[in-house]
Amino acid sequence: MIKLSGYGRIAVVPAENAELTRVGAGTPMGEVLRRYWQPVCLASDIEELPKLVRILGEELVAFRDKSGRVGVLDAHCAHRGASLEYGRIEARGIRCCYHGWLFSVGGECLEQPGEPPDSTFCSKVSQPAYPAREFGGLVFAYMGPPDKEPVFPRFDNLEKPGWELFAYRNMSRGAVAECNWLQIQENAMDPVHTAFLHSTISTQQFSDIYATLPQLDFAETDYGMKYVRSAKLPSGRTFVRVQENYTPNMRSIADNLTPDRPYADGANLIGWWVPVDDTHTLGFHIEAYDPNDKEKVSTFARAKEGRTAGTQEKHRSYEDTQRHPDDKEAQVSQRPIAVHALERLGTTDRGVILFRKILRRALKDVSEGRDPQNVFRDPERCQIKVVSGNTVS
Ligand code: FES
Ligand SMILES: [Fe+2]
Repeated sequence: MIKLSGYGRIAVVPAENAELTRVGAGTPMGEVLRRYWQPVCLASDIEELPKLVRILGEELVAFRDKSGRVGVLDAHCAHRGASLEYGRIEARGIRCCYHGWLFSVGGECLEQPGEPPDSTFCSKVSQPAYPAREFGGLVFAYMGPPDKEPVFPRFDNLEKPGWELFAYRNMSRGAVAECNWLQIQENAMDPVHTAFLHSTISTQQFSDIYATLPQLDFAETDYGMKYVRSAKLPSGRTFVRVQENYTPNMRSIADNLTPDRPYADGANLIGWWVPVDDTHTLGFHIEAYDPNDKEKVSTFARAKEGRTAGTQEKHRSYEDTQRHPDDKEAQVSQRPIAVHALERLGTTDRGVILFRKILRRALKDVSEGRDPQNVFRDPERCQIKVVSGNTVS
């Protein structure tokens, strides 16, 4: 048996895996993440006022002008840097509070009311802007090189005839998760933890059938990877759960209150873990629901801040979190940025290992001038086919 003293262990601390985790402009993963449309806020956040957001380490202001167009601009006014979060929303754009410069959603300077009437200075100035659009109740921005802007992806589970979409913040790791994006995103490819963290360790946080230790299988897909988690239940039935991660920071998840009876259901939501910066992360979901069955939203949509399932009470105290830890406690406590060099990966970590390999491939693709996985160019071929789901048979 290997015995290790704690003495000296912090004398030399290995660096985190900067290549996979850092998200700033010009960093390898920061450049990969900037090749995709990223959610920046809820559409309902910008009904009347602008919204200051920090995404990939950049301060931005999202807003909807009074003509209904959505914009995502650099937060700091091109004139002398006042934040446009204090700007006034108008029909043609947003007017900076300080000296009244007016900018369109595309960042054109439309007015400089303090300059002489015959000035042409306005045409020489613009506010840095990103392409922005709404989908399913979220505002998305494309923050990458202008000539690399991809087609907006389609997800077939969000296109069910007659179903409607709604969006919400995934606050299961806190309103803003105080850790790097990758440890949360890769948790989705670590299905064995549902038998421990969410079952035998904390008490049953999902339905009972997650407590049975599963067989694990992992495979690459056209869009990233999936796990297949199979468990032979005490009832004699077999429970199979499939879940997918899509390169780089998207995923689909089926509900986790799966009953112990013959049952089959697919994932009705798509989730994003969006880096605020290297050590803070925002969760967003778009979920499809049958309007004739309003109650049938997923357990994730009903979850309280800091909890994963809709059936759980909010943690009231630190002691609560120690007695009944959840995803937030497990993943945020891996350190602000989990240090891969300190990990001891076992056989159940095959999914995490594979996901990192897929991300390294995306890094290589971008660094060598290719489009990474899920950057679509053809509007006829931009659909992600979702296979996540639960079956009990
Ligand atoms: S700082 Fe915005 S108009 Fe002057
Ligand atoms: Fe979990």
